[in-house]
Amino acid sequence: MPLLKFLRSTVGLKFIVGLTGAALFAFVIIHMVGNLQIFLGPEALNTYAQFLHASPEVIWGFRLGLGAVAIVHIVGTITLTIRNRAARGSEPYAEYAAYGSTVASRTMAVTGIIVAAFIVFHLLHFTVQSVDPSFLELKDAEYAQTHPGFERHDVFAMVVKGFSVPWVTLLYVVGVGLVCFHLSHGIESFFRSIGLTNPAYRGVQEIFGTAFAIIIFVGMSIVPISVLAGFIHL
Ligand code: HEM
Repeated sequence: MPLLKFLRSTVGLKFIVGLTGAALFAFVIIHMVGNLQIFLGPEALNTYAQFLHASPEVIWGFRLGLGAVAIVHIVGTITLTIRNRAARGSEPYAEYAAYGSTVASRTMAVTGIIVAAFIVFHLLHFTVQSVDPSFLELKDAEYAQTHPGFERHDVFAMVVKGFSVPWVTLLYVVGVGLVCFHLSHGIESFFRSIGLTNPAYRGVQEIFGTAFAIIIFVGMSIVPISVLAGFIHL
C-alpha cells in the first residue's frame, strides 16, 4: 500500500513524529491555560477539573488517545535516531555537530527520557495521588454545602498542598524546564518535518521554538513558585 510505504519511509516517519509532537505540544498549551485558572481561585479551578472528569468515557478516551500519541512519538523518534546513526556511520560527531545541531537537538534522547520520568512522577502525584494519599481525601467543602448530597475533589487544595513542599516545587520547576528545553528543539524540527526545510527559514523557526518554550516555562512554573512563595494559599 503506498500510504503504508510512505509512513515507513524516513520522510513519512518524520512527518508522524512531527504530527504527534504537535499534538503533545497542543496538550501542554491547553494544560497550561487550564492550570493558570488557579489564579482565579478554588471555585474556578475545581469547576474546571469537575468538567474534565464529568464523563468517564470522555476522560478515558482522552487518556488512551494521549497515551497512544505519546507512544507513537517515542517509538518513531527512537526509530529515526537508530536510522540516523546507521546513516552517519563512522563520521566523527564534531563534524556532524558542525552541520548546525544545537545543545537541545543533541540532548533530545536524554531530555526525552528525563521528561518521561517527570511525567510519570507527575501522574503519580496529581492523578493517581499515591505520592501523598491524603490528596484523595480532599473534598470541596463549599461545593458540598451548596450542592447537598454531592461532592467533588478539591483540586485547588491538592495543588496548594503539593507545592507547599519545597523539594516538590524544585522538582517541578526543573522538570518543566526540561520539558521546555526539549520542546524548543521539537518545535523547530516540526517545521522541517512538515517540509519547511529551506535554510532561509531556520532563524525564524529557532526564534519561534525558543519563544514558545519560554512562554510555556513561565506559564507552567509560575504555579508551583506562586504557591511556595505564599501568593496562592488555602
Ligand atoms: C507546574 C506545572 C504543572 C501543573 C501545576 C500541573 C497540574 C496538574 C493537575 C492539577 C493535574 C490533575 C488534574 C485533575 O485531577 O483534575 C494534572 C494532570 C496531568 N498533567 Fe499536569 N501539571 C503541570 C505540568 C504538566 C506537564 C509539563 C505535563 C506534560 C508534558 C503534564 C501532563 C499531565 C497529564 C497527562 C495529566 C493527566 C490528565 C488526566 O488524565 O487526568 N502536566 N496536572
